[in-house]
Amino acid sequence: MPGIAIVGVQWGDEGKGKATDLLASRTDYVVKFNGGNNAGHTVVIGDKKYALHLLPSGILTPGVTPVIGNGVVVDLEVLFDELTALQSRGVDTSKLRISSNAHIITNYHRILDKVTERFLGKRSIGTTGRGIGPAYADKVNRLGIRVQDLFDESILRQKIEGALETKNHMLTKVYNRRAITCDEIFDDLQQYVERLRPMVGDTSLELHNALEAGKNVVFEAGQAMMLDIDYGTYPFVTSSTTTSAGAAAGAGIAPSKIDRVVGIVKAYTTRVGSGPFPTELHDEWGDLLRSNGFEFGTTTGRPRRTGWNDTVITRYASRVNGLTDIVLTKLDVLTGIERIPVCVAYDVDGERFDEMPLSQSDYHHAKPIYEELPGWSEDITGAREFSDLPANAQAYVRFLEEHSGSRISAIGVGAARDAIIQIHDLI
Ligand code: IMP
Repeated sequence: MPGIAIVGVQWGDEGKGKATDLLASRTDYVVKFNGGNNAGHTVVIGDKKYALHLLPSGILTPGVTPVIGNGVVVDLEVLFDELTALQSRGVDTSKLRISSNAHIITNYHRILDKVTERFLGKRSIGTTGRGIGPAYADKVNRLGIRVQDLFDESILRQKIEGALETKNHMLTKVYNRRAITCDEIFDDLQQYVERLRPMVGDTSLELHNALEAGKNVVFEAGQAMMLDIDYGTYPFVTSSTTTSAGAAAGAGIAPSKIDRVVGIVKAYTTRVGSGPFPTELHDEWGDLLRSNGFEFGTTTGRPRRTGWNDTVITRYASRVNGLTDIVLTKLDVLTGIERIPVCVAYDVDGERFDEMPLSQSDYHHAKPIYEELPGWSEDITGAREFSDLPANAQAYVRFLEEHSGSRISAIGVGAARDAIIQIHDLI
């Protein structure tokens, strides 16, 4: 029975909420399997707007069990702030489950994220400053603090002391900051322990049992393909696996349990933070996409970089994620543009690349090779069938599909929750 992974295909902010919404009424579990509160989704239900950074969006759907998997890094202050905000608006959050193996973001991770970025100067990554990278670095260095450690005071103290040993040298001698004491971290974490306890469990086993019992489980990736630690535009990436393979490792289920992989592709492209972006626009077209698409970060408020759709990226994501379906979002933002360029390949110093170049240096030089498609001027926000779209909008979608390596199963045509054309079922 369906395990469905939902992944971003570009540099994030593709609008995964549209796909999650499509599945919501048939979903039993929504699992966040990577990242932390660097993500950001705004969900509008009725006249209420919810901004979530850490909690899986499924928490807003009655009947759905939201799960924070072992692959996530959890900032407890953010977790409880988000829970309190939802509870005060009458949302039932009692079903939330958290893996005992998830790692904790502490204050020293947040501080290190900010000071290392400042130290990098022009080479900075443009992180969200939430401590994500340093928390994952500690996990890989075997210096991390896991959720389960919070329930054993002696172990917790030992782990904090172990982590601070080197960090305080770095903070005081390299970055000229004050040292952090074990007590301040310990006390900070202790305030959450009792509230956290009932939510924590063996989520790997719980999800396995749910899948065996025929429940529908949605694995929702944070960030996206091009920010993946292995496949993205390294080093301008986040510190986790954002692709479908990460769903298995980060949720504790077997890869064979994932039946469908839905990739979310924006009709154009955006990116926040630094790093290469071949189709980026620095002209009035870029400004138009930004203002029409409201392209400002949910987590940091930063204006997003904008550019045309890049099918080289979608083909790459189709292959690496094994996409079975694509949800194309924000098609309406392109309304009114007379001729719409779509990138079909790259030119790197005179050589044509139909697939991603192997080397980072080549990617930094990649110039888009465009094909131009005729646009449309009719309002498409009311379209609910593919045939409701103007012929040129249909042709644009078909063109993206032909060059993407997977079928397009749904199309977002507006901000409203129901502004979507569904072509194939996702479950
Ligand atoms: P970090 O995840 O905070 O370490 O940031 C690393 C890179 O990923 C930076 O370029 C961020 O802007 C980017 N990033 C992290 N989370 C998101 C997201 O949810 N949407 C878009 N970009 C993100």
